[in-house]
Amino acid sequence: MLKPSREDKFTFGLWTVGWQGIDVFGTAVRPPLDPVVAVNRLAELGAYGICFHDNDVFPFGASPAEKSHAVGRLRKAVESTGLAIPMLTTNLFWHPIFRDGGFTANNRQVRRFALRKVLDNLDLAAELGAETVVFWGGREGAEYGASKDVRAALDRYKEAFDLLTGYVIDQGYQLRFAIEPKPNEPRGDIFLPTIGHALAFINELEHSEMVGLNPEVAHEEMSGLNFAHGLAQALWQGKLVHVDLNGQNGPRYDQDLRFGAGNARGAFWTVDILESGGYQGPLHFDIKPPRTEDMDGVWESAAGCMRNYLILRDRTRAFRADPEVIAAKSAAGLDELARATLAPNETLSTLRAETFDPEVAAARGCGFEKLDQLALEYLYGVRS
Ligand code: GCO
Ligand code: MN
Ligand code: MN
Repeated sequence: MLKPSREDKFTFGLWTVGWQGIDVFGTAVRPPLDPVVAVNRLAELGAYGICFHDNDVFPFGASPAEKSHAVGRLRKAVESTGLAIPMLTTNLFWHPIFRDGGFTANNRQVRRFALRKVLDNLDLAAELGAETVVFWGGREGAEYGASKDVRAALDRYKEAFDLLTGYVIDQGYQLRFAIEPKPNEPRGDIFLPTIGHALAFINELEHSEMVGLNPEVAHEEMSGLNFAHGLAQALWQGKLVHVDLNGQNGPRYDQDLRFGAGNARGAFWTVDILESGGYQGPLHFDIKPPRTEDMDGVWESAAGCMRNYLILRDRTRAFRADPEVIAAKSAAGLDELARATLAPNETLSTLRAETFDPEVAAARGCGFEKLDQLALEYLYGVRS
């Protein structure tokens, strides 16, 4: 039951297990990982698929021949293992050309180059049968007040999405876009820092129906936000296209811990909303296995993500099915919240004519402590 299978739809970015541990303070601690080896190992561990940045598979500036050789090798590995490639993303952050961003760089030539790089990757995504293209704008941002006209930058950001969605439509590709918000790192302040900012931005796009979100646990928690609430709102707005699952310990640098490490209580509610809120996409892990680990530790990390998700899926299902929990929810007013405040046959006049004693209603407690204690006992494993 806690063994991952293809039906669980777990996916990993090649950049996750392939992260060599290069950070601002130190060099690589692990050798480069051949994408073919990654695919084979992830398939053995029970993953459903892989995702990648263009430059996880072929280097920046690769010739068409180099590119097709590298993609061909990957494709063979993917086909022989039966893995899926549901998502592709474009690296618009590593090369120095993107020091001031891609779509929002002050330098117009850079913006045009970034668009070309993404167009190429959209072709590749379509060719490989991916469904989603993620846009993580880690370099789209600023460190200073005067260095960026934020409104102009947002115009350029929108222009890029309008051009790229237009291209997808013209080509007849079946691709959706997913914006991945992050508050900071590498830029001091990144544009579209949270789920809420990104949702509002999407509303301004020409083809907003093609654009949704790829929220990440660590990124929302870096801002002290409640990730499960963010997911719930994205689902409510029909915008949860993809998800980056990992772990984070509160507001600090982006930790990208294995899923279930970090804020365990947040992870419980994350699984609960993903399982109950109608999300259909892949469960994608975006982790950076710690620098302390060798390759054995990397695979422990990948396996741990899937196992922790399955543990929490089991725990949240049991929680929801427990008659005591159902009664506690009802006592806590959950059924009532699901009912419209005004009945269909009522008007505001009937509402205003109602007699009500606020003192009586105010005296009543909410019953949330009892309910939450039940949830914690499922999480702590003392109830099943
Ligand atoms: C990060 C991001 C990235 C993106 C990836 C996909 O903070 O480093 O989460 O890992 O998810 O670039 O676009
Ligand atoms: Mn992250
Ligand atoms: Mn991510």
